[in-house]
Amino acid sequence: MAPMKDSLASLWATRLRQNQGIRSLMEDLGQVTGHPDEILLGGGNPAHIPEAEEIFAECFLTLAKDPLLNALLGDYQAPIGNDRFRSLAAEYLSSHLDASLTKDNIAFLNGSQNAYSYLLNIHSGKMTDGSFKKILLPIVPEYIGYADQSIEADAFIATKPEVIPTGNHRFRYGLNKNDFDLSEVGCVALSRPTNPTGNVLSLTDLDWIESKTKKRSLPLLIDLAYGNPFPNLIGEEEPVTYRDGRTLSFSFSKIGLPGVRLGIIVSNPETIQTLSSYAAVGNLAVGNLGVYMMEILFRKDILPLLSKNVLRPFYDKKRELAISIFESTFQKLGVEYEIHDPMGGFFLWIRFPNLSISNHKLYHLCKDKRLFIVSGHYFFPGLNSDFSHTQDCIRLTYCRKEEELARGAHILAEIVATHQMKSK
Ligand SMILES: Cc1ncc(COP(=O)(O)O)c(C=O)c1O
Repeated sequence: MAPMKDSLASLWATRLRQNQGIRSLMEDLGQVTGHPDEILLGGGNPAHIPEAEEIFAECFLTLAKDPLLNALLGDYQAPIGNDRFRSLAAEYLSSHLDASLTKDNIAFLNGSQNAYSYLLNIHSGKMTDGSFKKILLPIVPEYIGYADQSIEADAFIATKPEVIPTGNHRFRYGLNKNDFDLSEVGCVALSRPTNPTGNVLSLTDLDWIESKTKKRSLPLLIDLAYGNPFPNLIGEEEPVTYRDGRTLSFSFSKIGLPGVRLGIIVSNPETIQTLSSYAAVGNLAVGNLGVYMMEILFRKDILPLLSKNVLRPFYDKKRELAISIFESTFQKLGVEYEIHDPMGGFFLWIRFPNLSISNHKLYHLCKDKRLFIVSGHYFFPGLNSDFSHTQDCIRLTYCRKEEELARGAHILAEIVATHQMKSK
């Protein structure tokens, strides 16, 4: 029998079928077998923290007994949420973002990932005046999940960041102000804290970027999945507020509820209306569970205290532990390494400057030993110049148990140690 011919696919589908970082990372999570040797330092799952899980379970039980349970299970919301939930979120977030929001500034989506797949396409691609506008990522590496969200190819631009040495085995990426060019740009997007590096852009840098975007009336998208007011993993930096010209996104995932899939967007009414159209077409409606849980958590004002008393101390302690485990193992096995200053979030971004193989190859060698990490090459969408960090960095999460971190550090260090170039 003649082999089946590949069916004709759209350019978008063809691009999506190529191996994407976010798909590979999420599929790795889905392929976990529970084998005791598996070490899961790859994906973005938050840690299971009993004090937080107890609060969420209580919410769940309250909802299960609520006379509105039938509505939760049996009715659609409006595409971006019913007005009463949007008004509640507007009032609640106003006090945390130093703003006067109304429901017209609020949209709920099925996760902030879902929101970005619309937002990035609202602000990039072919415009009504015939021009083609791109998404500027002011500092790469930047969140792996943005990379394939634009329907148009080549929609991202980025320049090489400044690399600032900050101490022994430490560095930080800084904003490259010299090559900051908005002439082809439709929006600027950044995560704060940044996934993957843990960078937390200073408000001074944010203001500098905004002084440029405002001149051209360009939206500034700030992704606060790990930011303020919850889970508020922003280290010593100041919180972000809402202002006209900004689109802020919040997520319930990193407080410990990734399975609930709730993302909240705060923006101007026009963008919110456009999101409503997208949401109706793409989802019909936001899911009910997240917004019902939000109602309880916001009314009781639980999240700021949960962040301050439980989440931040937990992740601070984990970070210190992970750094000490990885550094001592690297030093014991003679691995040359540099770690990005872990200012926020819950990842470590590690550079192996003498690596003789690519980071992608390193990922596969680790996976062969059941250690899951993420190769850093995925995190540079739009960067078209040579930059060694695209080939010699990895991301790993420190949300796991001490024993698992220690086994992971050992396997990683052994592999890197056997694939290092001779020191100059
Ligand atoms: C920076 C950042 N933004 C957005 C998301 C998407 O999160 P969710 O769709 O679960 O809200 C993630 C998830 O890892 C993330 O790391």
